[in-house]
Amino acid sequence: MKPIGQLMIEHRLIEKMVYLLDRQLKRMEETQNADIAFLKVAADFFRTYADKTHHGKEEDILFRELAKKQLSQIDKQMMDELTQEHIIARGMVARLIKARENYTQGNLDNLHEIMVSIKELVAFYPVHIMKEDKRFFYPSLEYFNEQEQADMLQEFWEFDRKLIHDKYKKIVDEIEKSGLFCASNPFTWEF
Ligand SMILES: [Fe+2]
Ligand SMILES: [Fe+2]
Repeated sequence: MKPIGQLMIEHRLIEKMVYLLDRQLKRMEETQNADIAFLKVAADFFRTYADKTHHGKEEDILFRELAKKQLSQIDKQMMDELTQEHIIARGMVARLIKARENYTQGNLDNLHEIMVSIKELVAFYPVHIMKEDKRFFYPSLEYFNEQEQADMLQEFWEFDRKLIHDKYKKIVDEIEKSGLFCASNPFTWEF
């Protein structure tokens, strides 16, 4: 598989979640209620999968390697544009998470803010994905030989492998910091 093949597979999953989010938005408009459990899962999907896992591989591996090459003006401009769009998407997700938190705490007027941030995400992702799939990924591949592409794909796997461990380590660390843990843990062995 080509490295861009992996990124395109991830695009298809993101598109499915965008569709589900859009369905949820319609439901919210009808009921004037937010499904906070669904929104928690969706926010985690966009933060952990779409951003950290997917944009992470694009920026930290593909774009990093492209930056070492003599890019055409068009490709360089597109890479900068896509990087900027990742920053914008992070802002949209942060806004959705904040509005959901406020709504969960009883500030029901945040329903409007939730709906606005969902509308932004639903409008943003398909356009961003289409830009990458149709106008950037294939030309970007031209800069790499077979070995460089194989190394990149390998680095993608390593990136994903590390990410899952980092995510759950962070979750346990945060619970630990909350004071639920005592200094000596009877459920572990000291080696
Ligand atoms: Fe992207
Ligand atoms: Fe992408």
